[in-house]
Amino acid sequence: MAELQEVQITEEKPLLPGQTPEVAKTHSVETPYGSVTFTVYGTPKPKRPAILTYHDVGLNYKSCFQPLFQFGDMQEIIQNFVRVHVDAPGMEEGAPVFPLGYQYPSLDQLADMIPCILQYLNFSTVIGVGVGAGAYILSRYALTHPDMVEGLVLINIDPNAKGWMDWAAHKLTGLTSSIPEMILGHLFSQEELSGNSELIQKYRNIVTHAPNLENIELYWNSYNNRRDLNLERGGAVTLKCPVMLVVGDQAPHEDAVVSREFWGGRGRVGVLGWWSEGYLAKRQALFGTGRATMGPKRLIPGKNEMGMGLMGKELGSGSLGPLEGRGHREYNVIHSASCLHQVECNSKLDPTQTSFLKMADSGGQPQLTQPGKLTEAFKYFLQGMGYMASSCMTRLSRSRTASLTSAASVDGNRSRSRTLSQSSESGTLPSGPPGHTMEVSC
Ligand code: BEZ
Repeated sequence: MAELQEVQITEEKPLLPGQTPEVAKTHSVETPYGSVTFTVYGTPKPKRPAILTYHDVGLNYKSCFQPLFQFGDMQEIIQNFVRVHVDAPGMEEGAPVFPLGYQYPSLDQLADMIPCILQYLNFSTVIGVGVGAGAYILSRYALTHPDMVEGLVLINIDPNAKGWMDWAAHKLTGLTSSIPEMILGHLFSQEELSGNSELIQKYRNIVTHAPNLENIELYWNSYNNRRDLNLERGGAVTLKCPVMLVVGDQAPHEDAVVSREFWGGRGRVGVLGWWSEGYLAKRQALFGTGRATMGPKRLIPGKNEMGMGLMGKELGSGSLGPLEGRGHREYNVIHSASCLHQVECNSKLDPTQTSFLKMADSGGQPQLTQPGKLTEAFKYFLQGMGYMASSCMTRLSRSRTASLTSAASVDGNRSRSRTLSQSSESGTLPSGPPGHTMEVSC
């Protein structure tokens, strides 16, 4: 019998015949930290913010966002907005390699370049869409210029600086892995990378053969040297605008959550503790395996309330613990929530302004693998801000929205009362009081 194989399905719904991508115009402006290039699609719409994107390390605006912005259903959204796609310095197509010793801007300085772009274009407000390093940069910009940012879609954000152990592990990994391998490990999960789907082959090729690899390494170094965003719920440092946090449920390895559990013949007997998988991997790399190396544990606040489900994926049996002799074995169990940083980030943001979207079957880059789901979530997000008239919604969206909308959201009549999301897996919709964080899987 033929063996069943797991295949990764990438949604494809390109532009319809007759639909042509809008003409793009690329500009460069000088800033105190060097020049920055960005590409503008569409024309400014009165009383509407621009959509401003910032890509992750190893990519540029096209390789990061083209599949999302050229997705068929996305057209009904973006035709209502001008888009500004920023390329981090040295990442634009055809960028020359920076001279040796070039001081690449920090992520904070990259954020400080954004006002120069918006002044040049004479745009007053934006809705930011960022991935990884780009999500961090847009958040930093929103913290320093809250009046300029009407909303943020943050995909795979890590708002924290690297701790000492992350650093040590990073240095160790650097001894055995090349820069492209490390960057691919940041973008995709190990499972995806070893699956080597067409998408992975494409992005492996993009990163490995990038003519500007030296520049990419500089952006990578800035990302790894980022400061903590120091977000505090209700504190002085918090995002004031509506935020949609997005994470793929198979986001890279280091974000997964692991519990150490006792299992017996009748199933789970007890849980010893919870750790980040990245933490365990790093600790293992530094100090070797064995039960004695498990602590100190990194607890995940509210882990159970966050609905982290058990995947029951065995990492291997370890040494026997206190339940030894009763037939129990101790296992590391990887949990499906691979979103530790996002969970932390979510807990630090204003719950009345934040929605948290955990996307199934999306790998590390939901904007590449699930443009349809992300488009729909983005539509709800904009609708919650009062920017998508219901007449613009697809039939499917309209029927779901009818039961979701808590505030009238008529085009031009903006309300910031609630962000909408969906759960497509079960067909049920998230309930809960309006104006509270919604954690949604789809
Ligand atoms: C856009 O229409 O905004 C777009 C088109 C191609 C690549 C990225 C964005």
